[in-house]
Amino acid sequence: MTAALIDGTAVAARLRSEIAAEAEKMKSETGRVPGLAAVLVGDNPASQTYVRSKRKACAEVGIDSFGYELPKTAAQEEVDNLVAELNADPNVHGILVQLPLPDHLNSEQALSKIGIDKDVDGFHPINIGRLSMKGREPLFVPCTPAGCIYLLEQAGAQFKGARAVVLGRSNIVGLPVAMLLLHRDCTLTICHSRTKDLPAVCREADILIAAVGRPQMVKGDWVKPGAFVIDVGINRVDDATKKSGYRLVGDVDFDEVKEVAGALTPVPGGVGPMTIAMLLRNTLRSATAHSA
Ligand code: GUN
Repeated sequence: MTAALIDGTAVAARLRSEIAAEAEKMKSETGRVPGLAAVLVGDNPASQTYVRSKRKACAEVGIDSFGYELPKTAAQEEVDNLVAELNADPNVHGILVQLPLPDHLNSEQALSKIGIDKDVDGFHPINIGRLSMKGREPLFVPCTPAGCIYLLEQAGAQFKGARAVVLGRSNIVGLPVAMLLLHRDCTLTICHSRTKDLPAVCREADILIAAVGRPQMVKGDWVKPGAFVIDVGINRVDDATKKSGYRLVGDVDFDEVKEVAGALTPVPGGVGPMTIAMLLRNTLRSATAHSA
């Protein structure tokens, strides 16, 4: 193994203890407790797991969490009205609508109902719009992209003038992380399913971010020696040796890429814990801002 392992679990644990200390200080000085409302529509098992993890993490750092579950048949109006109620609730400083929503719902519409000052996921069209423009600051940056950048900083990556390649163009990860890299003066390439000669494009990357949802797609010979590689993928693959019958792998072939990269995140234990840490941090910041 030549790559340094970027330990997201350890970095996130440090952040969480800092957040817990600040939440405690806020409570003792002002009586205010940061509050996060989590809206889950339907019964997508992955979404249920994510929301459970987020609420558990809130409890561990002294952030109140309020769970709202709507049936998969919920009408758009019910979702929109719930968000409007949460906007008006002074105990709620952050609102997250877990994605994806069931197909019949318009997620753009639901997200646009969240007050931008409570948009701790950073998905409101205004926050995303600001993120996508030069010289504008969003109130909140989406959590997984912010976690990727934080890990790169911790690992000592240099951004200015670096060649950065992002695999994937999703609204949740690919596009916003690309904007963050551009703001840090990377020379940026965004790849997708129509990109020609993907391995050759990836080989140019000093910073490579894989967020496509394809198990172990990025091979050792796709990676420039010494590159920083961030693996956002969380994919289930069959594994008869596990009690569950599956194991989790990333979008990067870890065993191959660890022999080439300079630094690499594992799956699990890389980006995953950072997403939640950034959500907690955004919620704390929102609670702080709401005091002003
Ligand atoms: N679905 C996958 N990732 C996320 C996330 O970070 N926030 C929300 N709300 N939904 C998601």
